[in-house]
Amino acid sequence: MLQKKDIMDALSKVIDPELHKDIVSLGMVKDLIVHEENKINVTIELTTPACPLKGEIEADVRKHLEEIPGVGEIKIEMTGKVREKTKKDDLIPGVKHTILVGSGKGGVGKSTVAANLAVALAKTGAKVGLLDADIYGPSMNLMMGAKDEPVYTIDGTIMIPLERYGVKMISIGSLVEEGQALIWRGPMLQSVLLQFLKDVQWGVLDYLVIDLPPGTGDVQLALAQNIQATGAVIVSTPQDIALSDVRRAWNMFDKVKIPILGIIENMSYFLCPHCGERTDIFSTGGAKEAAEQNNIQFLGEIPIDISIRKGGDEGMPAVWDESNPLFEIFIKIAQNIAGKISQISLC
Ligand SMILES: Nc1ncnc2c1ncn2[C@@H]1O[C@H](COP(=O)(O)OP(=O)(O)O)[C@@H](O)[C@H]1O
Ligand SMILES: [Mg+2]
Repeated sequence: MLQKKDIMDALSKVIDPELHKDIVSLGMVKDLIVHEENKINVTIELTTPACPLKGEIEADVRKHLEEIPGVGEIKIEMTGKVREKTKKDDLIPGVKHTILVGSGKGGVGKSTVAANLAVALAKTGAKVGLLDADIYGPSMNLMMGAKDEPVYTIDGTIMIPLERYGVKMISIGSLVEEGQALIWRGPMLQSVLLQFLKDVQWGVLDYLVIDLPPGTGDVQLALAQNIQATGAVIVSTPQDIALSDVRRAWNMFDKVKIPILGIIENMSYFLCPHCGERTDIFSTGGAKEAAEQNNIQFLGEIPIDISIRKGGDEGMPAVWDESNPLFEIFIKIAQNIAGKISQISLC
């Protein structure tokens, strides 16, 4: 009969390629059972259901188990559970990680990325929330197909988030009439943001995606002062001018000590739907270069695509349709972000 220790020894040779540690010391091995005829059942619990290396790790586990002399049939179950940060947020105690989506300027597709990222993370099996913190120009309720949906409260205080595409969401756009100009003074803005965090029934979330207003203003500061954000994702278009704005954005995140998870290049290129030819409308690659120069992870590039614009206007994020080639692109970006968060939270 095989001993558990021999099996654990074999499993300790499996290194998580992203976290650079073995899966035994990472605490990923669960429910190890040895049955008669040395049959092995084991569950490997990854640090996120959005792990891009699931297949690779499973193959490596199998390879090392098969090398144990006398081993019988091997059954491996791969699961994922997002681990919490060491320091919890008092305002949102059920939220394991907050991801801020920022940009140097408006119109670069920040909200589009936030909506598709949230839906992509949910599609991998994670519990996800989406908070529209673009108090001056909310768009999440439109993009997520919740335009005329009222927000209900419990006892007039606790807001119940809407649910769309597997994501819990709240947007100031649901609370004010369309086109109504919003002029918030500092303290009002801060108090509205705090309400969106603490007075919304978020429940337990693996990731709360927060769509920021463009630039480096009050909302960013208020969030930095009130929550322990896990990190920020910066969205940019490839033009140089946009990139100088990007530098300003990451300097700001640096200053308020929010880690930068990486940078995404949006409207990177155009793929002709007729012939499939790729055209780099704005000379692509600027964001990637800037990321490399500054030692920031490049999270991926998103093409200009009519279905992204239409999806935004019609209230169905493009990633929802799994037959759309954009599905893979957004899932890959979500996996890169989830992977980066796993790395950060283990440090
Ligand atoms: N990759 C893309 N392809 C096509 N249209 C896009 C893409 N990214 C964003 N858009 C469109 O550009 C406009 C601005 O995007 P939005 O996400 O609102 O930007 P931001 O939040 O940065 O101001 C929207 O109409 C959106 O649908
Ligand atoms: Mg926006």
